[in-house]
Amino acid sequence: MRTHYCGELDTAHLDEEVAVCGWVNRRRDHGGVIFIDLRDRSGLVQVVFDPDRPEPFAVADRVRNEYVLRVRGRVRRRPEGTENPDLATGRIEVLGHEVEVLNAAQTPPFQLDEDDVGEEHRLRHRYIDLRRPTMQRNLLMRARVTRAMRRFLDEHGFVDIETPMLTRATPEGARDFLVPSRLHPGAFYALPQSPQLFKQLLMMGGMDRYYQIVRCFRDEDLRADRQPEFTQLDVETSFMDEDGIMALMETMLRALFREVLEVELPDPFPRMAYDEAMRRFGTDRPDLRIPLELVDMTEAMRAVEFKVFAGPANDPRGRVAVLRLPGGAALSRKEIDDYTAFVGRYGAKGLAYIKVNDRGRGREGLQSPILKFLPDAVVESLLERTGAQTGDILFFGADRAAVVNEALGALRVRLGEDRGLVAEGWRALWVVDFPMFEWDAREKRWAALHHPFTAPAVEDPAALEAAPGEARSRAYDVVLNGVEVGGGSIRIHRSEMQEAVFRILGIGPETAEAQFGFLLRALRYGCPPHGGIAFGLDRLVMLMTGSRSIRDVMAFPKTQTAHCPLTDAPAPVTEAQLRELNLRIRHQP
Ligand code: AMO
Ligand code: AMP
Repeated sequence: MRTHYCGELDTAHLDEEVAVCGWVNRRRDHGGVIFIDLRDRSGLVQVVFDPDRPEPFAVADRVRNEYVLRVRGRVRRRPEGTENPDLATGRIEVLGHEVEVLNAAQTPPFQLDEDDVGEEHRLRHRYIDLRRPTMQRNLLMRARVTRAMRRFLDEHGFVDIETPMLTRATPEGARDFLVPSRLHPGAFYALPQSPQLFKQLLMMGGMDRYYQIVRCFRDEDLRADRQPEFTQLDVETSFMDEDGIMALMETMLRALFREVLEVELPDPFPRMAYDEAMRRFGTDRPDLRIPLELVDMTEAMRAVEFKVFAGPANDPRGRVAVLRLPGGAALSRKEIDDYTAFVGRYGAKGLAYIKVNDRGRGREGLQSPILKFLPDAVVESLLERTGAQTGDILFFGADRAAVVNEALGALRVRLGEDRGLVAEGWRALWVVDFPMFEWDAREKRWAALHHPFTAPAVEDPAALEAAPGEARSRAYDVVLNGVEVGGGSIRIHRSEMQEAVFRILGIGPETAEAQFGFLLRALRYGCPPHGGIAFGLDRLVMLMTGSRSIRDVMAFPKTQTAHCPLTDAPAPVTEAQLRELNLRIRHQP
């Protein structure tokens, strides 16, 4: 049907007779001559219909936007002065000799070049939305990324192996999507939150090196970088320690960025301990492009009169920290109120501040509602430690450490964006030395920070059980421009250690046997030391394409309410289907 793609035609094809297929991007009537911009995956080409050829002219005259055409014609140079330097094919045009309408189209529900079409609307007509150049570019780049990943892993001896989609719950910390079983009334499969246990079992099965580009399902609250089903590049290997795995995986990321974006990532990626990341950035996924840091003032605030600071400063779980914004003294009352409301979303009860109007004048040069509560020595140390200069503002967070970190960590990113402080380029790092467990205050028990199969840094199960709160894990996360794009760990490969971890997590022997008996048994039959990682493919491609949301790099994503406007899923099923599955819907009271 066609000899070329629209977007590849150029002066190299002058005077050639070509055939192209595509959609009518735009049709213009220029006093007797009709111009049609024909669009396919590769781009646009201008086709000209001259009244000299009445037959094709008449057809061209009645086509409308998004009609599907096949055009045959001759490539010719555009007349001088009519070239379009913004278009790859802008130096040529096709003089249409023949045009065939392959299909008509109703007026599209939105124009492809319309900027602010609602996302719901875009997703309902995704087949049209996908024709937009950005979406085409995103999905094409996604395919290039997975191709480069596969090539790299194939070359390094990794084997692509599929794991079940109908399985038992794999505990990754989110809610499961359940699938009722017809043959086992009252029993349910769970869709995998990740292939974690299967990839470990593959190592026990002697497969040595595994990878899979695999769909994962998590029923959690959605955000711009979270979807109920998403894709991981999932990797596992035997007989390699964390340094080996990190080195190999960052080599892969470097190759990927070089090949797809012509960007050189650092070799090696810097590493940062979890504690340092929390202390300096309030988060375990710091965006290092933003040149702002938290400064800890907990110690200095212990003796102050101001209860708002002294309280958390004297609480072992509390923290007082300061964020200095250069030039921030110029912020208006309203802007500060907005930031106060912003940190409020993270549980902060306020956002105390000090404006540094004149650094040279010490206390006199400062402006703040809380200044009167702070003795000279504290003020001096504050200015010193934050490196405050004339024109800056200092923001305070005082609360439980978790609240301060979340609030000031988020404020740091927000200020970076609002004030144009986010540097260009790519900042990758590994975050390491995570705590093994975190205390779940609501449930009053330890929870795994990664997942319960992550190996602790200590070798001895008794030592781990003696002080779970102190233990570090052998986990590593890779963070790119403030996004957690991947995470993994060395795994527990001895059943005694796995049992100890279950005990610490409050999973009794019976529950452990019922839920993870297969794993515990497998560990006893010759399990090699092993470890791995999973990358969030959608997040990685989102970053690489410069998209704002992972929805823009997925062909058919769900909305924020986990709804698919295109197919209208999820949807009710018939009474007969329910009966077959032994289910009855409990109506809301
Ligand atoms: P983790 O839960 O950290 O680890 O997931 C790995 C990576 O997957 C991405 N990701 C998501 N992307 C989009 N939507 C979501 N809802 C979502 N949840 C996670 C993130 C994350 O870094 N089995 C372990 C990996 C391992 O230990 O090997 C796991 O799944 O980019
Ligand atoms: P108050 O004494 O409640 O009027 O607060 C005085 C200042 O401290 C105000 O600017 C509040 O925004 C701020 N503030 C109150 N609680 C906190 C907190 N937990 N962390 C940081 N600042 C706070």
